[in-house]
Amino acid sequence: MSTESLSHGHPTFPPDPALTAQANGTEAMYAAAADDHEGFWAEQARKYLSWATDFTQTLDWSGAPFASWFVGGELNAAYNCVDRHVEAGHGDRVAIHFEGEPGDSRTITYADLQREVSKAANALESLGVGKGDTVAIYLPMIPEAAIAMLACARIGAPHSVVFGGFSAEALNTRINDAQCKVVITADGGYRRGAPSALKPAVDAALDHADTTVEKVLVVKRTGQDTPWNADRDLWWSDVVDAASEEHTPVPHDAEHPLFILYTSGTTGKPKGIFHTTGGYLTQCAYTNAVVHDVHPESDVYWCTADIGWVTGHSYIVYGPLALGATQVMYEGTPDTPHQGRWWEIIQKYKVTILYTAPTAVRTFMKWGHDIPEKFDLSSLRVLGSVGEPINPEAWLWYRKYIGGDRCPIVDTWWQTETGAIMISPLPGVTTLEPGSAQKPIPGICAEILDDEGMPFAEADKVGYLVLTKPWPAMLRGIWGDPERYKQTYWSRFGEKYYFAGDGAKYDADGNIWLLGRVDDVMNVSGHRLSTAEIESALVSHPAVAEAAVVGASDETTGQAVCAFVIVRSEHADEVAADEKAMIAELRNHVAKEIGPIAKPRTIMIVTELPKTRSGKIMRRLLKDVAEGREIGDVTTLADSSVMGVIKQGLGSD
Ligand code: WT7
Repeated sequence: MSTESLSHGHPTFPPDPALTAQANGTEAMYAAAADDHEGFWAEQARKYLSWATDFTQTLDWSGAPFASWFVGGELNAAYNCVDRHVEAGHGDRVAIHFEGEPGDSRTITYADLQREVSKAANALESLGVGKGDTVAIYLPMIPEAAIAMLACARIGAPHSVVFGGFSAEALNTRINDAQCKVVITADGGYRRGAPSALKPAVDAALDHADTTVEKVLVVKRTGQDTPWNADRDLWWSDVVDAASEEHTPVPHDAEHPLFILYTSGTTGKPKGIFHTTGGYLTQCAYTNAVVHDVHPESDVYWCTADIGWVTGHSYIVYGPLALGATQVMYEGTPDTPHQGRWWEIIQKYKVTILYTAPTAVRTFMKWGHDIPEKFDLSSLRVLGSVGEPINPEAWLWYRKYIGGDRCPIVDTWWQTETGAIMISPLPGVTTLEPGSAQKPIPGICAEILDDEGMPFAEADKVGYLVLTKPWPAMLRGIWGDPERYKQTYWSRFGEKYYFAGDGAKYDADGNIWLLGRVDDVMNVSGHRLSTAEIESALVSHPAVAEAAVVGASDETTGQAVCAFVIVRSEHADEVAADEKAMIAELRNHVAKEIGPIAKPRTIMIVTELPKTRSGKIMRRLLKDVAEGREIGDVTTLADSSVMGVIKQGLGSD
């Protein structure tokens, strides 16, 4: 259908006129937003949301870099995501088609969702949770995850969702940092064909005398044996199912905190990124409409992320539900019970919009196109990608074998901190360039700066991506640490620029290409991991004296965790006797401390680490080793022979 022309050795894809005619996004929006930035956003806020009290000022930036959007406005996020759709006569519309990994399914309409969220809100209130109290949510991908989040939003209790794959240790730090009053969890979830327990991790996380947690609400998902503390634990089925189905959503200030979500930074301590209500919800709804082109009355949308990440917050819960859309939610892994599971789900529910990550696309490429070819994917009309750069080969495969050579692909760049999509093509508007996120969406302003902090427009020169104007879904800070917020995001190039931490370049057509992180943050399968956090997990093992971690490029996961470890001399004999056993133990130790996603792909036991005279580890050189490259410039090393020693040691491996 598309006329292909070649750019950078790859075809580009102009929009299909039939799509242009019905798409939510338009070319005119770019000019409208550029003409009147605040006016544009005020219009989106009123178009996409229902306000209990209209706002009087669109943006207050007088306390920069601390922003207030939609000042004076009041709204309830849960009302916007649920009740108003029922009031508008869409109570029978399916909100969530839930597909459990073992093959069970549930259909939840907007009227059902209103009852479930109201009951959960009443239950939380009966447990003493009120406006401003924080609630931790540690759940598998089941509808209760969305219900719990919306119940919190309804009563003004900021939620802190912790990804179910994180360890008890990681959960403990996050619960303590946000001082949570209640934890919502489940006995377990299904993963790779078997029940996987969650509740024991909560018990371990709360096994500290000073915990702020008063109650633990437990959803029964797997029915597995579950350790129980009668003073603290309650079954969701006892408390929520018994609660009233009526709950009045009271409006909250536009700037009332909606949630905290922890993400890895350059130090070992994760940052509690917090978002507020009006601006965040505005941009989630607007982007879901113009970037994914969601038409709530006809689309079946599916975002394959986990609710534990920001993608799940913005594009499973808040965006699609604010629009009143119908979506699929899937609990498990893509290869359970077979490698065509996703395609079977798309065929079953006639999914029209699919939003997933490059690492998944590359995995499917590896499994072969004959698998999706066995299913009817003709319902699909828009595809999305998020989490890391999508290489042109994966993009073209995604378009051909999943998108039937007809669906536009939107490569969406954004972050936990930005709250919602920032840089992306618009379907029906943009001529697509495989591998590039292309242009800031209407209402967003970005530049690329050189080392001196000067913006440039030259093609193929590499610089730092910055955002030059505040945006509604921007983080409002780091929970409890305003200084770190200023330091991390608004100081690298002065207070005028939000520093994203990503390298970027323009091509000759002015498209933006994202080139990965420029700080000590890795991106493994679209998940952010900090080198410092994994290093500190490694040195917490009694056998480890020192550790250095780098992200090495990996064909499937984008980057992979590679660790270089110096073992304490007391443990040298163990290493000599069985190096493999020591490496396995250290990998498991990292999984226990942080979670399986942080498990190093490789651990190399070395006797030295390359350091500068001031003692800073030169990860750049270790990356050269991990990626099998010629070692770069070693002149700033305190001891320039170290790299030789490391290579020699590994060579004997
Ligand atoms: C980092 C943010 C955005 C939700 C999922 C990850 C990388 C994200 C893209 C993309 C190139 C991307 C960046 C960014 N990233 N999307 N389309 N192209 N890189 O959220 O964990 O906050 O990570 O993911 O490096 O800074 P996150």
